[in-house]
Amino acid sequence: MQNFDYMTPTRLIFGKESIVKLPEVMGPLGKRVLLTYGGGSIKKSGLYDRVKELLADFEIFELSGIQPNPKYDPSVLDGVRMCKEHNIDVILAVGGGSVLDCSKAIAAGACYDGDPWDLISYKVKAKAALPIVDIITLAATGSEYDAGGVISRTETNDKIGYVDPLLYPRVSILDPTYTFTVSKKQTAAGIADAMNHTMEQYFAEDTTLLNDGFCESMLRSLMVNGRKCLENPEDYTARAEMMLCCTYGCNRILSLGNSQSGWPCHGIEHALSAYYDITHGEGLAIITPRWMRHILSERTIDRFVKYGINVFGIDSSLPKQEIAEKAIDETYKFFESINIPMHLRDVGIDDSRLDEMAHHIAVNEGLENAYAPLTEQDIKKILVESL
Ligand code: NZQ
Ligand code: ZN
Repeated sequence: MQNFDYMTPTRLIFGKESIVKLPEVMGPLGKRVLLTYGGGSIKKSGLYDRVKELLADFEIFELSGIQPNPKYDPSVLDGVRMCKEHNIDVILAVGGGSVLDCSKAIAAGACYDGDPWDLISYKVKAKAALPIVDIITLAATGSEYDAGGVISRTETNDKIGYVDPLLYPRVSILDPTYTFTVSKKQTAAGIADAMNHTMEQYFAEDTTLLNDGFCESMLRSLMVNGRKCLENPEDYTARAEMMLCCTYGCNRILSLGNSQSGWPCHGIEHALSAYYDITHGEGLAIITPRWMRHILSERTIDRFVKYGINVFGIDSSLPKQEIAEKAIDETYKFFESINIPMHLRDVGIDDSRLDEMAHHIAVNEGLENAYAPLTEQDIKKILVESL
């Protein structure tokens, strides 16, 4: 088992009506609030009005219109400017992972005198960040319980995972009923995202029985409860369990003591959404089974066998190769069964920029050090297989 140094300082307040604690949570953090949100789902659902009502005693400034795959320009830059202009004490992010990720970059940028890209691109280490509270409305990224945010810069096709312990939300309010209105497309993408977060930790060199079991049950729960959420979007129990699974996905708790996998599918997907602005979870679902097939080898086969038996219940008496291949087929079939488009062409990506993307990924994502090392040629092959 590998050494680790771990802390997640985020307070989770989970369940129906947990929002009533919002004033108590915000009080000690200050009166001047930057409320951040996306394209309007929180207005439609009534959550916006509820927040304003609960925070009637606070001074609220608003940054709206944060897009999926949140953009450095204008959202991060506007948010930083507003925090400085209005002397903001605390950021309240209400929405999906994109709103929260954007808010994390704003929180660090607000406490830095230079260009916020210096921080996101790791040129400069942040010394401070504003506190963040969030009300998450989409179960997927786990941003509510982790120290990272993913920011896109359109002109350079960069999509960077910016991670710093300063970015952990102070408090995350998780009410599964807020996810009732999430569309089938985004629900399915959320299932795929959280499943892939789990796989990125499961497919590693050194793992433990404890972590393997945790990951396998996460995957089973996401498939069972994810399906229920799609069948009945207002199934509270299923939405609640899916939400908690997603929350656990990205804060390393599933892989403490494991060796690092290098998160290869994320490395590849981030380029797809940087170049084509596609939905993150859909990109992952397309890449994952092709990546699996590409890395299946003598060295990795036992991981696939364990995955196939414990996650999909494949007959353990079959030959190893057959179990591994069935496991990969089942992964593909599950994503297909929840109506995720399973080819790059289905999401508007053709072969015209595959070379460019493979090069970008190879240069920027460090996948030659992944669990199964990937060269530029390997990445290109996976992309071609995914077309
Ligand atoms: O903008 P609004 O109107 O709010 O609509 C959003 C958006 O169109 C909508 N939505 C959110 N909650 C809703 C809702 N619609 C109806 N009812 C609700 N309750 O859903 C759409 C997608 O939202 P978005 O925030 O983009 O989705 P998600 O939470 O999946 O976030 C995706 C982003 O997170 C990054 C991804 O790369 C992508 O940029 N990731 C962040 C991670 C992290 N911080 O740890 C890890 C992940 O691997 C991931 O990379
Ligand atoms: Zn992800």
